[in-house]
Amino acid sequence: MDTRSLLQRISEFMAVFFERLSDLFVPSDGGISMIIVRPAKPTDSGAWLQLRCGLWPDGSEAQHREDIDRFFAGDAGEPRAILLAENGAGCPVGFAELSIRAYAEGCDSDRVAYLEGWFVAPTARGSGVGRALLAAAEEWGRAQGCREFASDVQSDNEASAAAHRALGFVEVGLVRCFRKDL
Ligand SMILES: CC(C)(COP(=O)(O)OP(=O)(O)OC[C@H]1O[C@@H](n2cnc3c(N)ncnc32)[C@H](O)[C@@H]1OP(=O)(O)O)[C@@H](O)C(=O)NCCC(=O)NCCS
Repeated sequence: MDTRSLLQRISEFMAVFFERLSDLFVPSDGGISMIIVRPAKPTDSGAWLQLRCGLWPDGSEAQHREDIDRFFAGDAGEPRAILLAENGAGCPVGFAELSIRAYAEGCDSDRVAYLEGWFVAPTARGSGVGRALLAAAEEWGRAQGCREFASDVQSDNEASAAAHRALGFVEVGLVRCFRKDL
């Protein structure tokens, strides 16, 4: 091998070496760039189920499982999309469920991207996972042709209300819900 080829091989080796090495370090943004948000796949059913039970513990596991199966079978009108956040180890740590609503409080368009569910595992909170999920959700909404994005929160969920405000949502009203048997 001549000197030129040898130098070329060394330079290629060093480029790959430094690329791999950089993967071992947490970036200076505190690790946020290691979060991957992607659409959920059928193989994510178990992880999504676990996270969903965390957000809506009042629903039975069987009911959640049924909703998940219907979604992947394409039989569910809602949600329209599920985004899953993975940490650097490839472990699912949060999700967002999205729909499009013809009406949402405070909105003036009739095709509003809607955040039906938003959850980050307690141990992963406060490190940008929720923010990354919402950024991807907004992208999804734009891609669906929506120009407004809406959400709702239980009136006593101050933490979530604060997180919504921190991410640019503006509070537009407080609704009380009622029901009766027919
Ligand atoms: C709401 C929730 C999804 C936020 O996820 P998260 O990963 O902790 O959020 P992030 O770390 O990305 O924070 C996003 C922003 O919200 C703010 N925020 C998050 N939690 C907050 C809290 N408890 N109090 C005040 N602000 C908060 C952050 O400061 C951040 O703003 P900044 O970047 O300007 O500092 C998460 O707390 C959660 O799963 N809560 C329980 C379920 C829930 O209430 N879901 C919403 C109702 S559908």
